[in-house]
Amino acid sequence: MGIAIERTSAPKPKPKSTEYGFGRFFSDHMYMVDYSAADGWHSPRIVPYQPLTLDPGAAVLHYGQAIFEGLKAFRGVDGKIRLFRPEMNWKRLTASADRLCMKAPDLPTYMEGLQQLVTTEREWVPTKEGTALYLRPTLIGTEAFLGVRPAEKYLYYVIASPVGAYYGDSLDSVKIWIEREYSRAAPGGIGAAKAGGNYASSLKAALEAKKRGYAQVLWTDAGQHKFVEEVGTMNVFFLIGDRVITPALSGTILPGVMRDSVIEVLRSWNLQVEERSVPLAEILEAHKNGELKEVFGTGTAAQVSPVSELGTEEQVYKIGSGGVGPLSDRLYTYFMELNYGRTKDTMGWLHEIC
Ligand code: COI
Repeated sequence: MGIAIERTSAPKPKPKSTEYGFGRFFSDHMYMVDYSAADGWHSPRIVPYQPLTLDPGAAVLHYGQAIFEGLKAFRGVDGKIRLFRPEMNWKRLTASADRLCMKAPDLPTYMEGLQQLVTTEREWVPTKEGTALYLRPTLIGTEAFLGVRPAEKYLYYVIASPVGAYYGDSLDSVKIWIEREYSRAAPGGIGAAKAGGNYASSLKAALEAKKRGYAQVLWTDAGQHKFVEEVGTMNVFFLIGDRVITPALSGTILPGVMRDSVIEVLRSWNLQVEERSVPLAEILEAHKNGELKEVFGTGTAAQVSPVSELGTEEQVYKIGSGGVGPLSDRLYTYFMELNYGRTKDTMGWLHEIC
């Protein structure tokens, strides 16, 4: 399918990299492609960034058929632009679409869209280390119909946002509230899908944690709040003694691209990684015994996010020395060096765009 390209006649002024933050600015163009039962995926196009025209009866606005992805385009020290494991995001998009009974774009439609959008927006890919052009593939049900069933029309689009290093110039740590009232996902639900609804349902817990002085929450299982699941919008890892432990992909956990990559890197460093159910009691016991060395989250936005403190009504658990632990630091540095092309891509994870 050839992609039609319509260039903007009014390019936006580009913000300074110090102003980026996360997701505040959008580039000049977007990629769009439509699906209907009769025509399949059709009319792929790059158009000026613009509001969507949606029927007020569109499925996404009523029954939440909305899923998304997030990945970054990095400009290496050699000037080349590369994506980090884009095919992993496609696999997850396909799995999320399947769970919400939506039609996902096929791999060529997805990859050609990323390739063409990033090439069109190459001037928007920042150069400063730690910054990137964040890509947000989005899939929504657009059919106007109020009966509850899967939509028969979809829009897939990708927008792009220049983003800064999550923690400014150097890695920082965050305080996390152990959440035992609200839940992120239930067994049999949509926790493993990157669905907008999961993020909507997480907001209240995050707001309440913030009021208590915490950056985010440690999610525990919906049934008994006894097993650890995720941290904020990220996957979570614990360094206990010399073993790294992370919740297994049981159906309530988002299969993070960084989660998978971190596990592979840790194993390549000959560290033992256990993917299994993680009782909160085990974590607190390890803390008591002085064996809980580090806790960190992993995700595309922050890459690696060290936790300095876990809190409950009863107690505050300081992690390690209360700052950035050596393993989190080593991982963060590894991905920085890889993404900006300062080290060889031995895993074959980077996809060169231009
Ligand atoms: C990430 O950590 O990359 C996420 O998925 C969070 C995103 C929704 C901003």
